[in-house]
Amino acid sequence: MKVAVLGAAGGIGQALSLLLKTQLPAGTELALYDVAPVVPGVAVDLSHIPTAVKVEGFGADNLDKALTGADVVLIPAGVPRKPGMDRSDLFNINAGIVRNLIDAIADHAPEACIGIITNPVNTTVAIAAEALKAKGKYNPAKLFGVTTLDVIRAETFVAELKGLDVEEIVVPVIGGHSGTTILPLLSQVEGADFTQEEIEQLTHRIQNAGTEVVEAKAGGGSATLSMGLAAARFCLSLVDALNGEDDVYEYTYVEGDGEDARFFAQPVLIGKDGVKEILHYGDISEYEAKCKADMLDGLKADIKLGEDFVNNPA
Ligand SMILES: NC(=O)c1ccc[n+]([C@@H]2O[C@H](COP(=O)([O-])OP(=O)(O)OC[C@H]3O[C@@H](n4cnc5c(N)ncnc54)[C@H](O)[C@@H]3O)[C@@H](O)[C@H]2O)c1
Repeated sequence: MKVAVLGAAGGIGQALSLLLKTQLPAGTELALYDVAPVVPGVAVDLSHIPTAVKVEGFGADNLDKALTGADVVLIPAGVPRKPGMDRSDLFNINAGIVRNLIDAIADHAPEACIGIITNPVNTTVAIAAEALKAKGKYNPAKLFGVTTLDVIRAETFVAELKGLDVEEIVVPVIGGHSGTTILPLLSQVEGADFTQEEIEQLTHRIQNAGTEVVEAKAGGGSATLSMGLAAARFCLSLVDALNGEDDVYEYTYVEGDGEDARFFAQPVLIGKDGVKEILHYGDISEYEAKCKADMLDGLKADIKLGEDFVNNPA
């Protein structure tokens, strides 16, 4: 098994790579790629940790080598938000970065499962799909937008509010990964009752949790440590599933039947070949149905922006 992290020298990339070095199954290869010259040093640093995961760093000229043979490619490359920025403000820079990296994946690791972390995820996943399609290499079962951070935040906030064991809480989060497109299904949380006021406050907090971090870091970037953990959790699930483990489920932003939007975060059963089954998110409350109806046009516009970036460049 080989996992490649593209953007491995960044805030997320380093936290994620540390967790993967310590938690991937023995024998896994971990390839760290970045355009920042520090990346070989990050790899050497991690290589001193005593686990049976082999780490190697690859600089700007060696993307092909980082990718060759990869089973999983995670992409946290790109710029993060600063205070006052929306995730869509990142589009101009990050769209091109994702496009170029995806083109290289199509050429050097066309069978890999790809997890997109780079924001705006609602749009960068659509860019990835269309760029892969243009190369004749798009497999919807192997392209994932990583929305796990929304799930772990929701679980943390619900446990805090209700005094529950955070290890036991499950909070489904569907939709996209930006503002109101992030839709926690609090009506489905077992073992907790909420007033309507609590539901509205919690929903708002989960949707704006990224901004909470951006403001607290005061210009120093966005979530990196919690995101590193979220991406590691997603990657480890993917690796388990690729290794043949049954019953691996994650909420993730994938192309499904298009009932709500072309790409939509929902519960996914992952198997040896990527997405095995996309499950329906089940019954939702009247409030959640209204939130969903209100955000769908925005989500679809985000997706179209990505499709147009590849297919109808201005
Ligand atoms: N999906 C999520 O839930 C989520 C959460 C937080 C942040 N993010 C996003 O993740 C991205 C990274 O955030 P960060 O805080 O790690 O930023 P960062 O600036 O700390 O790191 C980004 C890294 O990407 C590298 N990079 C830039 N262009 C590259 C290229 N063409 N190829 C390879 N590497 C390249 C940079 O050198 C840097 O090391 C941002 O777009 C951010 O918005 C996503």
